[in-house]
Amino acid sequence: MKKKVLILFGGVSSEHDVSLVSASSVIKNIPAGKYDVLTMGITKDGEFYLYKGDADSIPEGGWLKDESLLERAVISPVRSHHGIIHLETGETERIDIVFPVLHGKNGEDGTMQGLLELSGIPYVGCNHLSSAICMDKAFTNTVADFSGIAQAKWLAYTKEEYADAPADCLKKAEEYLGYPVFVKPANAGSSVGISKAKNASEFAEACKTAFEHDRKIVLEECIVGRELECAVMGNARPVASTVGEIVPCNDFYDYDAKYIDDNSALHIPARIPAEKIEEIRDLAVKTYKALGCSGLSRVDFFMHESDGKILFNEINTIPGFTSISMFPKLFGAVGIPYGELIDRLFEYALERQ
Ligand SMILES: Nc1ncnc2c1ncn2[C@@H]1O[C@H](COP(=O)(O)OP(=O)(O)O)[C@@H](O)[C@H]1O
Ligand SMILES: [Mg+2]
Repeated sequence: MKKKVLILFGGVSSEHDVSLVSASSVIKNIPAGKYDVLTMGITKDGEFYLYKGDADSIPEGGWLKDESLLERAVISPVRSHHGIIHLETGETERIDIVFPVLHGKNGEDGTMQGLLELSGIPYVGCNHLSSAICMDKAFTNTVADFSGIAQAKWLAYTKEEYADAPADCLKKAEEYLGYPVFVKPANAGSSVGISKAKNASEFAEACKTAFEHDRKIVLEECIVGRELECAVMGNARPVASTVGEIVPCNDFYDYDAKYIDDNSALHIPARIPAEKIEEIRDLAVKTYKALGCSGLSRVDFFMHESDGKILFNEINTIPGFTSISMFPKLFGAVGIPYGELIDRLFEYALERQ
């Protein structure tokens, strides 16, 4: 019998729009013979709707245009329901697997995963704990340090710490990290709220911007080198793809360079020696395990221009899933086409359960 999968898209995060594109692509690539597909959208205000329309209409909010294609429904936290509740009729419907194709806040940060844990429905991707840790760059960096995974020097400040002593915060950052310094919201994504500050006045501006997105910020020394990404999937015995390289068209890989201006270049495999690819693949799996990941994640690194040293940058537990996104492309490059990839992610969800 076909398994019934529920694809979640949208959400309240700053990456809502990216999720719509990712989900549209996922839905179109699900092996049709094996699965019945339901799609549920979450508006920017956090309203849930079952969506009965075409996957092509999801991006840019097209899914909300025709009300006749929307029905109020929610995921039930009640384990015996094992699925959704149709709010208009009160009926429940069993779901076999959920794939939260949601990026950022309330989708990738463990909150949705917590609800799915309660529901008892197998779901794609990391559990609530690992999702929450990987979403927060300060916690991620702490675990990486503890696990002996090399990364850029970093600091973190809460809004209150910074507000109470901005001069001390600046001094510490200048002394320990130097310029340029990267300033990031601890919890965001898609480069939202991230700046590269080259002096004290840019530093103050960068902190202000980052604090608009989170109560905690992470500062990092600037690494000059290549940006490399490795896709990993699986549960207890995760496997790594090959390594890809990103050449941003802007000063760094900011939101524009990711989604607006399409002049950033991807190279698969990365233009680095074969032994460096192997080193990164091993490191990606080590990082994945250290952070308690399951299902999938994309692990991002820098390779230092001067000495070739590999430094961990960040991990994405629900990476971009558009047809041109790194995650599907990296596995595509090692012989796993998009449809088969999704099939495997569903299998990992069932296996973990
Ligand atoms: N320490 C750093 N040194 C150099 N570039 C960085 C550093 N941190 C971030 N960047 C640049 O900023 C981009 C976004 O930062 P990242 O930490 O990956 O945040 P996000 O989760 O939003 O993708 C990176 O892809 C890279 O181009
Ligand atoms: Mg990134």
